[in-house]
Amino acid sequence: MRIGKGKAIGKIILMGEHAVVYGEPAIAIPFPSTRITTTIEETVGEVKLNCYCYKGLLKNAPDKLLGLKTVIEKILEEFNRPLKNFNIDIKSTIPPERGMGSSAAVAIATTRALFNYFEKYLSLEELEKYSSISEKIVHGNPSGLDAAIIMEEESLYYIKGESFEPFHINLDGYLLVADTGEKGGTKEAVSDVKKILDRHSGKILLINQLGEFTKQAKEYLENNQPIELGQLMTKAHEILDQLTVSNPTLNKLVKVSLENNSLGAKLTGGGRGGAMISLCPTREAAENISKKLLENGAKNTWIAYLGDEFNES
Ligand code: MEV
Repeated sequence: MRIGKGKAIGKIILMGEHAVVYGEPAIAIPFPSTRITTTIEETVGEVKLNCYCYKGLLKNAPDKLLGLKTVIEKILEEFNRPLKNFNIDIKSTIPPERGMGSSAAVAIATTRALFNYFEKYLSLEELEKYSSISEKIVHGNPSGLDAAIIMEEESLYYIKGESFEPFHINLDGYLLVADTGEKGGTKEAVSDVKKILDRHSGKILLINQLGEFTKQAKEYLENNQPIELGQLMTKAHEILDQLTVSNPTLNKLVKVSLENNSLGAKLTGGGRGGAMISLCPTREAAENISKKLLENGAKNTWIAYLGDEFNES
């Protein structure tokens, strides 16, 4: 039986979410403790999809899978092949709709799997093309950051429309990622931030401020300055809250982190739910904060060392 496989990992935005939509820089890191694997298997008949939120014929997939469905259709069109005689199985440990890159990763893993199945060479340009088709449907006005970090699998200093700048992080600190258990609302948050900026021209200063934070954060990440980075993260969270991107659950988890010796904490990704991050000085501190966050409603946590090697647990 013919089989094709494709993989993609999750991502975490350290700084610059939302501001990146307006041309400011953002920093994101790959997050290999979460990943997606798509398997294409030869069969006879209509294409069936099996994934976290739907099991059935691809043609009847719910609207929330429209981005993925469109990508699959476009690829088959390009290959000049009929949309039949294979099934698609998607296994994911990236929690969906948490601002951890699941929508971009699912499109990327599935594009890779289809190219592998049909034995076609996949260039970076094509991968970018297909992931952006999906991201436009899912997010409305994506900066392209999610797709870039998931494709590159390296820490990125990213400016929309410019070439990617991978850079080396060397920070003696632990990044704790916590899932609020609530679906994020990236599309709504992106659109509401735009409304705020359209109505109050002065608020663009908040976006510019987030951009300045990203520039400073890059220096702190390269020069091992965890205390300064932590302070910046908390300030960025306050600005994102002013832009209505946070919500009470995220604010609570940020507060609990800070009350328990976190160096700094903020939401990550689209916001309005989803995930938050907390910078911790030691693994012991990260484990203790993780326990407190879980006691206060977080549904899952991950810890990654930000030193020379990313080690997750
Ligand atoms: C979503 O993960 C990140 C946002 O900045 C949107 C985008 O960059 O497209 C909120």
